[in-house]
Amino acid sequence: MRVPKLERYRQLAAFPNFLEPPVKHLLETSFELSGKWNDAFFRRPAPLILEMGCGWGDFSLGLARRFPDRNILGLDVKGGRIWRGAAMALEEGLKNVGFIRIEGEALERLFAPGELDEIWVTFPTPYLRKPEKMLISPTFLARYRNLFAAEGFLHLKTDVEALAAYARKLWPLCGFRILDTESAEGRSDADVAHESIDTNFQTRAVGKNKSIYYIKATPIFGEIAPIPKSLLRLPWSR
Ligand SMILES: C[S@@+](CC[C@H](N)C(=O)[O-])C[C@H]1O[C@@H](n2cnc3c(N)ncnc32)[C@H](O)[C@@H]1O
Repeated sequence: MRVPKLERYRQLAAFPNFLEPPVKHLLETSFELSGKWNDAFFRRPAPLILEMGCGWGDFSLGLARRFPDRNILGLDVKGGRIWRGAAMALEEGLKNVGFIRIEGEALERLFAPGELDEIWVTFPTPYLRKPEKMLISPTFLARYRNLFAAEGFLHLKTDVEALAAYARKLWPLCGFRILDTESAEGRSDADVAHESIDTNFQTRAVGKNKSIYYIKATPIFGEIAPIPKSLLRLPWSR
């Protein structure tokens, strides 16, 4: 049965696995769970994994089911979508996944430096006219870099070939090393599992016979040089 949007919002607000941090408050101070997600929200120590732009939450749920020993958070600005993932997690009794509704731009107010072990960006919106808004743009990569633990991993899944090419070109300039996921160094059980965890957009892409591109990277800490403006508009600059 289809649940109307307003009813979804009403239910979501009462879900114990959902948070909507007050944006106004975040302008002045960090979120109360910053630095304490494992202790205060999940109530156990475990690797902390964030999915940016989780939409309906399929991928976060998939990770939570396959990796009960990890703590997973799905973040999206659209509450009507998050509702589905959060409701399903409650139905299945999944205690290792939570959902946050907020603009990704507030990320550094939500987490403390070094708090995140992995970030997944699954099928990000390409924002053809405003590449800086993309969840894989240099602006977002700088935020991710601040929040990663020493051995952090950033993952991208996309069906847009130009986005994959953009990431391969830009990420090394943003202080990330692209890993070869076919080698022992770059391949983990989660990397293998990601292929079979479908997201809403992945299902649509596969239905249209599109290829799925997967990129994995790790942050390299230290100074990074400014990125030439000519590269920042790739891959859509004329
Ligand atoms: C193309 S959808 C993909 C959804 C899901 N990952 C999937 O594969 O089915 C992109 C999602 O990113 C979210 N999004 C885009 N920019 C965002 C931002 N700045 N902050 C939070 N969410 C954002 C959108 O609301 C949307 O749900």
